[in-house]
Amino acid sequence: MDNNERRATWEARYRSGPRPWDTGITPPEVVDFWQNHSPVTDGLAIDIGCGTGTNTAYLAGLGLRTVGLDLSLNALLLGQQRRATLALSVQQRIHFAQADVSRLPFRNLNAVYIVDIGCFHAIPGDARFDYANGVIRNLAPGGYYHLYAFDKLPEEAADPDARGLGETEVADLFTPALSVVEIIRARPDRRPCRWYLLRKGTSE
Ligand SMILES: C[S@@+](CC[C@H](N)C(=O)[O-])C[C@H]1O[C@@H](n2cnc3c(N)ncnc32)[C@H](O)[C@@H]1O
Repeated sequence: MDNNERRATWEARYRSGPRPWDTGITPPEVVDFWQNHSPVTDGLAIDIGCGTGTNTAYLAGLGLRTVGLDLSLNALLLGQQRRATLALSVQQRIHFAQADVSRLPFRNLNAVYIVDIGCFHAIPGDARFDYANGVIRNLAPGGYYHLYAFDKLPEEAADPDARGLGETEVADLFTPALSVVEIIRARPDRRPCRWYLLRKGTSE
């Protein structure tokens, strides 16, 4: 599958479904994180593969400036509709942009928090190095990268279009620029997946 086909697939899902991930609920792992970390005043958060912006809006509601990035224009249009229902002060902190996050069109945004819920595991293997560099380059010293991703299933190991991350893939791609704070295995009753929390060192 090439990039145009991938984008068309996502556009179709946002046009006519199904999209079971689009629950409108911010995952408890993200809520727990922010209950333990005070949002930095005027800090920037990036929601990678933001879909319809549920989590972009949540982060803006905490007082962060937020940028939601997605390949799908249909998703972003739904995000704009969501944004219009929010308090004006929250709306003003939300920005959406159509972008391929495997080649982030930014450098040094100094985000205090970058979240990816279900996008990175769908990025093809040969684009993951560039994706990781985009995250590393745009995270502020001391900033956190929070990732929810499926594990790669052993029976899909040879399929280049299969979703999922290998056992050491996150450590291989992101360390030592970021260090792993915690890895939580999630929802063991469904497809194996993990929440990864990484942090950039403060000495840069
Ligand atoms: C499973 S959905 C999750 C959406 C959102 N994070 C949520 O939790 O509702 C994955 C999202 O990643 C987006 N996506 C996939 N590949 C992408 C890419 N290369 N660049 C930007 N977005 C991408 C899709 O369009 C889709 O919105």
